[in-house]
Amino acid sequence: MAIISLKNVSKIYRTAAGEQLAALDNVNLEIEEGEFVAVVGESGSGKTTLLNMIGGLDQPTEGSVLVDSHDITSAGDRELSLFRNRSIGFIFQSFHLQPLQTALANVMVPLLFADASWPEARKKSETSLGLVGLADKVNQRANQLSAGQCQRVAIARAIINSPRILLADEPTGNLDVHTGTDIINLLKQINMEQKTTVLLVTHERDVASQAQRMITIKEGLIISDAAIKAEGDENKQ
Ligand SMILES: Nc1ncnc2c1ncn2[C@@H]1O[C@H](COP(=O)(O)OP(=O)(O)OP(=O)(O)O)[C@@H](O)[C@H]1O
Ligand SMILES: [Mg+2]
Repeated sequence: MAIISLKNVSKIYRTAAGEQLAALDNVNLEIEEGEFVAVVGESGSGKTTLLNMIGGLDQPTEGSVLVDSHDITSAGDRELSLFRNRSIGFIFQSFHLQPLQTALANVMVPLLFADASWPEARKKSETSLGLVGLADKVNQRANQLSAGQCQRVAIARAIINSPRILLADEPTGNLDVHTGTDIINLLKQINMEQKTTVLLVTHERDVASQAQRMITIKEGLIISDAAIKAEGDENKQ
C-alpha cells in the first residue's frame, strides 16, 4: 500500500475579491514508501498547499488524504498532532528554529512533546546532531550558526522521532549552491539509510533532478509525474 495517497483532493480558498481559487484542483497522487520525490512548479501553483495537506497542517476542502494508513481528513486535533509528531518531519526554507536556544534545545523539542525523559531526549538529540555533522555545535545558539548549519539543526530535529516521511519545503531556498548541495545530499543519505520517504519542494531544476521522481504542479493540477533517470542508469543491466 502507498504510504501517501491523495484521492480527489481539492483545496479552495476564497480570495479577497470574493472569488474562489483552487490551490489544489481534484488531485490524485500515490507515493510509495522510501521514494524520494521532487515537487516543482511556478510560484503560487500549489506546492506548499500540497505539502500542508500531506503533513496534516491544513485540511482539504474536498477529498481524502491517507498517510501512513491514517486518514488525515477525519482525524481530530489531538490525534493529528500526535501523528505529525511521530510520523512526519518538516523542513522549511527559513528553518523555523528558536534563535536564542541552543542547537540541542531546538532538536529536543519534538521529543519533549512526545513525553520523552530529559536525559533520553538529550542523548537522542546529541546523536541526531552528530548524524547531520554538528557534534561540535550542540551547545551553540541557533543565532550563532550559519544558514547551512541552521538547516542541519532543522533536519536533526525533523528526524529525531524517526519519522516515516520527511516533507521539505524549499529547504535550499536560503542557501548558496554549495551548501544547498550538501543539504540535498544529507536528505538523500537519510532517504537511503533510513528508508524515509522524502517529498521535496524546490524551484531549482538541479535540485529536483536529484530526486527519483518529479511531480510538476500548475494552477493546482498535477501536469506531469515522471521517474527521473539516475546518472549511469543506462549502463545498468
Ligand atoms: N490561506 C490562504 N488564503 C487564500 N489563498 C491562499 C492561502 N494560502 C495559499 N493561497 C493561494 O493558493 C495558491 C497556492 O499557494 P501555495 O502557497 O501552495 O503556492 P506555492 O506553489 O507553494 O508557491 P511558492 O513557490 O511561491 O511558495 C496561491 O495562489 C496562493 O495565493
Ligand atoms: Mg510555497
